[in-house]
This record gives sequence, C-alpha cells and structure tokens, in this order.
Amino acid sequence: MSSISHEFQTLFGHFPEVISEAPGRVNLIGEHIDYSEGFVLPFAIANRTHAAISRSSDGLVRISSHQRRNSIFSIAISDVKPGSKGEWEKYILGVIWSLGITEGLNILVDGNVPAGAGLSSSAALECAVAVGLNTLLNLGLDDKELARATQKAENEYVGMPCGIMDQSVSIMGKAGSALLLDCRDLSTESIPFSVSDAGLELLIIDTQAHHALVDGGYAERRAACESAAAKLGVKSMRELTMDQLIAAKEKLIPVEFIRARHAVSEIARVLSTVDALKRGDFTEVGKLINQSHISLRDDYAVSCPELDVAVDVALSAGALGSRMVGGGFGGSAIALLRVEDVDAARTAISKSFEAHGFKKPRFFTSLPSAGASASLTTKLQ
Ligand code: GLA
Repeated sequence: MSSISHEFQTLFGHFPEVISEAPGRVNLIGEHIDYSEGFVLPFAIANRTHAAISRSSDGLVRISSHQRRNSIFSIAISDVKPGSKGEWEKYILGVIWSLGITEGLNILVDGNVPAGAGLSSSAALECAVAVGLNTLLNLGLDDKELARATQKAENEYVGMPCGIMDQSVSIMGKAGSALLLDCRDLSTESIPFSVSDAGLELLIIDTQAHHALVDGGYAERRAACESAAAKLGVKSMRELTMDQLIAAKEKLIPVEFIRARHAVSEIARVLSTVDALKRGDFTEVGKLINQSHISLRDDYAVSCPELDVAVDVALSAGALGSRMVGGGFGGSAIALLRVEDVDAARTAISKSFEAHGFKKPRFFTSLPSAGASASLTTKLQ
C-alpha cells in the first residue's frame, strides 16, 4: 500500500477510502486567452499532487498535508462556504463546496508541484480532490463538469478569476501529447509532442520570482479584454480577427487595444503551432513561442525582469524558442533547446541571474504526462 495511506492512517486512525492524483501543467502556447474563449495548448507535467480521502460521520472536514502533517485544519461541513476560514485549505474547501458535498471528510494531500512557480500547483490540488470525491461519492461527473467545478471553486471560493485551462489539462492531459483545448466548449484534440524524437528538450526555468495572482494584475488583464469585447459588440476576443480589431481601434482606449491585440494574435499563434507540430517543424514552433513572449511582454505586460532575462539568455544559448508561461508576474519560462545545448543554457541562465542579483533559478524538464486519476482503496489493497 502507498505511503500516503499509512500516513493517513497514522493521522486519522483509519485507512483512506480513495486515493487520487492530479498533475501540474506547462503551457506550450496560448497564454492569457482561456478566459477570452480562445485555444490553448498546455500539457500535464510529471509533478503531481496526491490526495487520500475518507468519509467521516461527525460532520467535520479535516484537512492535513504531508508538508504540514503536525497540524490538522478542521471545519464543520455546514461552514464550508465562500468567506470561510482557511488559507491554502480553501482550494480544497472550494472544491467540496462547488461539488455540493454535505458530509464530513478526512483529507490528506501530498505533492511535488512547486508552489508559486507558475506550474499550477493550485489546479493540481483542486483536481486531485475533485476526482477523488467524484470516485468516492459516485458523483458521476465527466471531465468537463469536473473542470468547470474546480474552476468555480477557484473563482468563487478562493477569489482568483482564473480561466479554465489549468483545471482542464490537469484532468484531461494525456501522456505523450499536448492538449489542444477549445476554451469555448472544452472540446479537445491530442497533439503529439515528441520533442526527444527531434533531439530537443523543453527546459522549464522556475525564476523563483513569486507572483500573487489573487492580486489585481490578472483581474485587470481579464477586465480589459471584457471591456474591449463589450465596446466592439462581440462576446469574446475569440470572435475578432486582427483586421476587425485594427479597423475598430478608435472605439477602444489604448490599453484595451493592446490587450486585445495580444489575445487575437495569440489565438492565431496556437493554431499555427498545432500546424507546425503536425509537420514536425520545430523551427516554426520556436518562432511562434518567441512571438508569444514578445506579445505577453509588450502588449499584455505580464512579464517581469526575471522572466525576460531567462528568455533572452536561453535564446542566446541557442534555444529555438523561449517564453514565459502561466499567469506571469514571476513563475516559470520554457525554452525549446537542442539536447546538446541544455547544460550550457542552464549554466548561462544561472550566471546571469547571479549577476542581476536575482534568486537562484530552478530547472525542470517534463514530458507530457497523464491527467488526473482516482482509485478506491479496496481495489488497491
Ligand atoms: C493562470 C490561470 C489560467 C490562465 C493562465 C494564463 O494560470 O489560472 O486560467 O489564464 O494564468 O494563460
């Protein structure tokens, strides 16, 4: 039996009924367009969060984590509603609330998705708990419903107005493929992403500059796209072509125009990237990744000095493409590198960070991995 089961048993005095897991993600391209009903192309990474859960008959929800196993957070299920107590536990409470659970639960989580690195540790936590509860309580929710329920938890319980990308890929990711997700209807297509066959590696560079997405920057970007859409009489940026946007420039204030220019161009870049991947043209994929970074840096203004240095140095070290990923304001960048250039790129980035007085960066790599799963423990024992 797994170690999380034993730890759960030590903590709660009985074994869990279900064990589940869900991954973090990197996004190849399609940044800040999920809430504009765009296309995105993320993949699930190997790093994941595990959850062990059982029902409890006393009407209490108890939550602990491997990292803080000396303390158990406890709340009555009737008090699990937006505005409740809790810090990181709110990601879990939000899922319990959005799934409409009315009984007590014991929950232990453990994970290795780095927090604050822009790799969606919060979605991994939400989705691990959601798929676990779906299996344990036989809720019968499909992948799209689980993605929407976990997004609702983050929007309405945690208070972060995120889009649907992170939760969707954490639930629906497939090993070996990036997930082309249409954020309008959550339809998907698996796009094989076999960099190693092409002698390449996707390096993930955690700048260790920590963003706080609950702060205003993310919400402001989203609001700018929504007000641009309202002024132009469309439902979302997805309905606009670049020609239409340029023709209507006078109707928008300058900041709305440049935010919209990012969204419209990024949606087109995702589809071009899919075409290039299908042709195995990684040079073109690299160019599109670079264009995405420039657009996020200059039009969307969500980059930061650490991310820009990581990208610039990766490109000087021979990367085919490099860009910031996730919400921005810190977190991680990716670089598509020839395998033989990876070590030199890591060294050059580390040296440059030191010279700039930045924190020491961390490096990861991950192939596209499987999405979330859950098993009742009677089957595991
Ligand atoms: C965060 C949000 C996502 C998405 C990205 C930017 O990760 O949670 O919904 O908007 O930022 O692409």
